[in-house]
Amino acid sequence: MGPYRTKTKGTTNTNNFTTRSLIAILSLGGDMTDVLREREQTSSDAAAPSGKKEITADRYLSTEILSKEWEHVWPRTWLYAGVASDVSEPGEYFVFNIGPESILVSHTDEGEITAFYNACQHRGARIMVNERGWIKDFVCPYHGWTYGRNGALTVVPDENRFSQGIDCETQSLVPVRTEIWAGLVWICMDDDAPSFEEYIGPLKEQIEHYRLEEMVVAQDQTVRLECNWKAVFDNFGELYHVEHIHPQHALIFDCPTSRVRLWKNGHTSVYIDGFTVNTRLPIPEEPTKLMRGQLKSLGMDPEEYRGRVLDVREDVQKTRRDMASQLGYNYDLLADEELSDIFQHNIFPNMLITLQPDKVLLMRARPHRSDPSKCYWDKITLVMPPAEDAEIVADLQFMPKPKPVPEERPEREEFTQEDVIAGKKTMDITVDQDVHLIRDVQNGMRSRGFKKQVLNDDESRIQHYHDWYSWYMGV
Ligand code: FES
Ligand SMILES: [Fe+2]
Repeated sequence: MGPYRTKTKGTTNTNNFTTRSLIAILSLGGDMTDVLREREQTSSDAAAPSGKKEITADRYLSTEILSKEWEHVWPRTWLYAGVASDVSEPGEYFVFNIGPESILVSHTDEGEITAFYNACQHRGARIMVNERGWIKDFVCPYHGWTYGRNGALTVVPDENRFSQGIDCETQSLVPVRTEIWAGLVWICMDDDAPSFEEYIGPLKEQIEHYRLEEMVVAQDQTVRLECNWKAVFDNFGELYHVEHIHPQHALIFDCPTSRVRLWKNGHTSVYIDGFTVNTRLPIPEEPTKLMRGQLKSLGMDPEEYRGRVLDVREDVQKTRRDMASQLGYNYDLLADEELSDIFQHNIFPNMLITLQPDKVLLMRARPHRSDPSKCYWDKITLVMPPAEDAEIVADLQFMPKPKPVPEERPEREEFTQEDVIAGKKTMDITVDQDVHLIRDVQNGMRSRGFKKQVLNDDESRIQHYHDWYSWYMGV
C-alpha cells in the first residue's frame, strides 16, 4: 500500500487522503515527502499567466467563440493527429480532419512521417477524402495535379497551358509541423509556437515508459455528440460525477483517494487506485464479482481475500510482476502502482490518454466546423501484444471482456449519440453513461437560467484547463 494514505480493512474508511487534501497541501507548500510521490507535486509555473477565469455558458454556445478558437487555440497548440502505426510504411497515409481544417499525414519514400494541409495548390480542392490507405502519389481528383509522398508537386496535366509557368517549389503541398512521440503523430499549424518538447513538458516522462509505440489498435470509434467539444472534455476532467453516474466504478476503483496534478500549458493528470473498491463506502467482506475474475486470471484464489479486499491491489501488483514473463509482457519500466492503477492525462486542448499496463485509451474531442453545440468524440483502444513465447493467455483488463489483440487494424466506426443512447452502439459502459448525460448538459447551458459554472475543489482540473484556454483566447 502506498505511503500517502491509509485504508482500514473490512470497514468504512473515514481517513482518506482526498484530492482536496492534496490540493490543500500543495497550496500550503508544506513538506510533502511523507505523503506524496514525486509525480504528485505540481510545478510552480503550472498556473495560467492570465489567472483564474469564470467559465461562462457562452464558451459552449457562441458561434463567435467557436470561430475565435480557430484563430487562437487550434493553430497555436500541438494536436494529436493519429497513431503512427497507421503510417508505418512508405505510401501509407491518413487524414486528420478537425473543424474546417484537414491535414494529410504521409510516410515518405525517405522514411519520414510528415504532414501537409490537405488542399491542392491549383484551386484548393481537398486531395484525399478517405481516411486512411496507401498511395503511390497524391493525385488531386479535380484536374489531376499530382504530388509525391513528400508533398512535392510532380505532375501538372497540360502544364504548357499555364503560360505564367508553374513553380514546383512553391506549388507543392504546404507542410505542417509534425512530431512523432509515444507512437502518436502530433501536428502544429503555427511555425512560431513552442516546440513539442516544450509544449508537452514533464508529461512526457509520465507516459512514454508505457511503450505505446509497441501497441496495436484494437478498436477505433467516433461518436457524433450534440454538445460543445469542451463540454465533453470537461466531463473527462473530473471524478466528482463518478459516484452519481458510474456506480460500477465503486467496485473496481477508489476515486475518492485519486490524486491530481496540474501542469503548464493546461495539461492535467489524475491517478486512481485500481483493483480496489471505493473506500468511502462500506468495504465488502469478500472480493467483488469483477475482482474475483481478475484474481482468478492471475492464478490467485478469491477465497483467500475474504475480509481483506483492500490487500488485493498490492498483491495484484506483486503477482503481475512475478508473472510478467509467463504472460509475455515486459513490466520493467513500470512502477508497482502502474501495474494496478489508472493514470489519466488530459493534454491541452483536446486529448486524453488513459494508461494501464497493457491497454491504453486515446480519446479526443474535435469541434464541429460551424456549430458550437456539436462535436466528435474519438476513442481508440491500443493493446500491447504479448510476446510470442507467452505461456499464459492474459486476461488482466479491469473490464469484464478485454479487447483481444486483433489480426488486422479495425476500421473506424462512426455513429451518433442517439445510437449509444438507444443501446445500438457501445463505447464501453462508462463512456456510454457519459454520452447519455452530456446532451442534457449542453441543453441546460442554453437556458436563460444558467450563466456560469461553480466548481468544487475536486474539479480543479477543469478550472486549470479553462484558465489556460482563456489565456490562449486572450480573454
Ligand atoms: S484543384 Fe486540384 S488539380 Fe485542380
Ligand atoms: Fe464519466
